[in-house]
Amino acid sequence: MSWIKVAKVTDVPTNTGLAVEAEGQALALYKVEDQVYAIDGICPHAGGPMAEGSLNGCLVMCPWHGWEFNVKTGDCDFNPDIKTKTYPVKLEGEDIYINLEVKG
Ligand code: FES
Repeated sequence: MSWIKVAKVTDVPTNTGLAVEAEGQALALYKVEDQVYAIDGICPHAGGPMAEGSLNGCLVMCPWHGWEFNVKTGDCDFNPDIKTKTYPVKLEGEDIYINLEVKG
C-alpha cells in the first residue's frame, strides 16, 4: 500500500472541504468529528468541485446542483445507484495520508 501525504488536519475546514491533489487525482477532504474522509474531488453528476461544497454532518452538498453525498461511504443521499469514490485516510499526528490504490 502506498500512502501519500496530502495535507495537515488543521488545513481542513469544518463546514466545507479542502481540495488536494495526489498523483494528478483531484480529491476533497472533509473533517467529521475527529476523523478525516476523502472522496473524489470531481462530482459524478457534471464535474462540480466537491471540496467547495457545504458540509452538514457527514453529508456534503455539491455547490453546482445540490446533489449530496455521504463523505464516509460515497453514497448519494437520494439515489442508491449513484456513488462517488472514497479513499482510505490515515492520520499520523497532524499529517493526512491518502491511499489511491483502494477505492470505496
Ligand atoms: S455537478 Fe455536482 S450536482 Fe451537478
